[in-house]
Formats: sequence, structure tokens, C-alpha cells
Amino acid sequence: MTDCGIIRDCSLKELNTWGSGGRCLWLAAPGDADKASLMIRAAMDAGEKLYVLGGGSNVLVQDGVIEAGVIASSSMDSLEYAKEGDLLTVYAGAGVQVKKLLALAVAMELDGLAFLAGIPGTLGGAISGNAGAAGESLAPLVERLETVTSSGEIVILEKNELKWRYRSAPWTSEPPVMVTKAVLRVPFGQKRNIIENIRHFSSLKKGQPLGAKTAGCVFKNPEGASAGRLLDLCSCKGLRVGGAVVSCRHANFIENIGNASSRDIYELAELCRKRVCDEFGTVLEYEIKFFGAF
Ligand code: EPU
Repeated sequence: MTDCGIIRDCSLKELNTWGSGGRCLWLAAPGDADKASLMIRAAMDAGEKLYVLGGGSNVLVQDGVIEAGVIASSSMDSLEYAKEGDLLTVYAGAGVQVKKLLALAVAMELDGLAFLAGIPGTLGGAISGNAGAAGESLAPLVERLETVTSSGEIVILEKNELKWRYRSAPWTSEPPVMVTKAVLRVPFGQKRNIIENIRHFSSLKKGQPLGAKTAGCVFKNPEGASAGRLLDLCSCKGLRVGGAVVSCRHANFIENIGNASSRDIYELAELCRKRVCDEFGTVLEYEIKFFGAF
């Protein structure tokens, strides 16, 4: 492993929004795809498992020691843009905070980004999980992605090579290890509409436990149904394992109300999942990503 700015035996607890979990073998935050590529190659040569960390807002990190390295996208935070007719082309690093993109949308009067209101994390995370709200997502705006594969190759994926699906990465073949940069093409809009849309999307979050230590929705919505509603109908709200509790505001959120371990959170999620399966025969699929073994 090339030793450039690597933190060994790094705690991930402070780097995820649940505030749970243990330590990884090393963590590095390369500033660009070339550096990421070197690290990925070195880790692969050493036979080390790798995880990619964006804003840590959608991950459950194993307790104890995770036998893996972590590459954080936080240093890939460049944000540039250029006007091209009635579109703004945005060149953004994977580590750019989603809220920074939303601020750009307000400042430059851009349409189609209002759904980002209240979505935590980074652009790389939002792309990898096709984050969205009320059917809207970044998908129609993504023109090109710069990615790094597991063999360290830098691969550019064009719009027509991306197959977007609900809350899933857009890869059709071998998934890259990480997204390093995105090019978005965003239409200009009317300031008044943009502010109204942001208000609208913010209002959709009113029934969510804002401010609590959560990772957003734990499960994806099954086709034609709401995971939150199904969990609620199974009386999951208020269920508790250790320091983890199913939110009383929205049943698809688990809150760390004390010193929850990731094991607490996982056992609670599995308990909820079993209830829904027993009651409705629906197997809920996780929306969150797992670091380590569960
Ligand atoms: N509902 C209940 N009980 C609950 C939660 C929800 O009955 O505990 C009902 C609501 O009353 C509503 C329906 O279920 O009739 C849908 O609920 P909601 O409007 O809260 O939307 P959701 O489908 O649960 C989705 C996204 C959220 C996003 C909101 C708002 C998923 C898994 N969740 O939630 O995204 O913020 O819409 O647009 O797609 C996330 O992905 O992490 C996330 C929070």
C-alpha cells in the first residue's frame, strides 16, 4: 500500500451518521482518480478488501475491527461549471456535499435539483445509490461519470452506458470500485419555482426524524408499496434493541438514541424485516450499505 496520507487503524464511528461501528485497517482520502487508482491497485495486490466512504449517511459499519481498507471521497471536492446555452455543465468531484450542489442550484437558478433538499451525504454516494425523493433523482442530469475499477483502471462511463434503477447503482456490468467525478448538465429555471420546489421537497421530510442519528431509510420501498407503512402496520415503531430504536415518526428509520452498536442496529433491522415478511410475505431489501461482516 502506497503510504500517502494513510491513517492506519482508523475509527469509522465519527465518520458515519449512525455514529456506530469500529475501526478499519486504514483510511485514505485520495484527491483524484489517479491517486485513487494507485491505492486501489496496491490494496488489490495486497489482497485487501476495500470499501468506499462518501458522507457516511447510508452505511452500517461493523463493530470491532473491519479487515479492510477504506477510501474516502472527501478530498475529491472540486466543483466547476460552465454555461452552455440554456444548460449549466457542472464538473463535480465525488466528495462534493449534496447540500453544496443544492446551494449551486439556488445561486445559478438551476432546475431539477430541488429534490436534493434534505438529502445528506456526497455526490458520489447519491450517484452510487441513485438517491432521490418522490420519483426524482440525479439520473436524467448525469452526462458522464469518471470511475475507477477494481484493477485500478480509470473508466469513463457515458450517459448511454448508465442504466438507472430505483435506489440502485447504474452499472450494467462489473461495478467500479468508486465514482471519482461526475459531469451533470442542468437546465436553468425560474428562481421563484426553484425556491418553491425546494420548499416542497423539504416538506416531504417533515414526517422524518430530522436531527436524530439515523442513516435515512433503512429499506428500499418494495414495488408499489412503502416500506415505512408496512413496518408501521407491523407495529415496529418504538421497537428497541440496545441503543437502537425504530423511529416513532417514521418506521423506516432506526435511531441511535444512546450508544447503539452496529450489532444492535442490525438485529433491530432484521427483527423488523422478519415482522414484515411474516405479516405480508414481503422480503424488504436493504437500502443501506454494509461495511464489514454482519
Ligand atoms: N407511512 C406510514 N408510516 C410510517 C412511514 C410512512 O404509514 O412510519 C406512510 C406515509 O403516511 C405515506 C407512505 O407511507 O402514506 C409513504 O411515506 P413517505 O411519504 O414518508 O415516503 P417513503 O416512501 O417512506 C421515500 C424515500 C425517502 C424520501 C421520502 C420523501 C425510500 C425508501 N424512501 O420515503 O428517502 O425522503 O420518500 O420523498 O425510497 C431515503 O432513501 O433514505 C429516504 C429517506
